[in-house]
Amino acid sequence: MRVVVLGANGQLGRELVRLLPGADTVGLARADVDLRDRRAVTERLAALAPDVVVNTAADNRVDAAEAEPGPALQVNALGAAHVAAACGATPFAPSPMIIFNWPTIGEP
Ligand SMILES: NC(=O)c1ccc[n+]([C@@H]2O[C@H](COP(=O)([O-])OP(=O)(O)OC[C@H]3O[C@@H](n4cnc5c(N)ncnc54)[C@H](OP(=O)(O)O)[C@@H]3O)[C@@H](O)[C@H]2O)c1
Repeated sequence: MRVVVLGANGQLGRELVRLLPGADTVGLARADVDLRDRRAVTERLAALAPDVVVNTAADNRVDAAEAEPGPALQVNALGAAHVAAACGATPFAPSPMIIFNWPTIGEP
């Protein structure tokens, strides 16, 4: 089973990649795919054909987001929607807690 972990340079992403040694796990950092780029997300995930995608990428700069929410929304909402769409899922309107904390899991 192939698992793709997005945000693989982050605290949660690094641990997930480390804790899934038995799976065919591919960690992708921001340098590999920027979640704000819908086409890049779609093409990268299609090329890897994962069984499971775990999205841990996030803009966690809470203080900056309170002053200017745009950059965080681009990653945490729009980027997550790009991942969901690439997985064939229908984006919905989750609560802010889910946008910020719930990994996106879906099938390609
Ligand atoms: N850590 C925890 O204990 C914990 C607990 C509960 C929930 N969470 C949630 O889990 C998520 C991840 O937390 P974390 O602690 O792992 O955060 P983190 O260490 O800040 O990691 C987030 C990762 O997202 C990447 N990223 C940011 N913008 C991106 C973009 N446009 N495209 C692709 N990747 C991008 C960052 O890349 P760069 O390295 O290049 O900046 C970073 O590696 C957050 O939603 C957080 O609220 C974490």
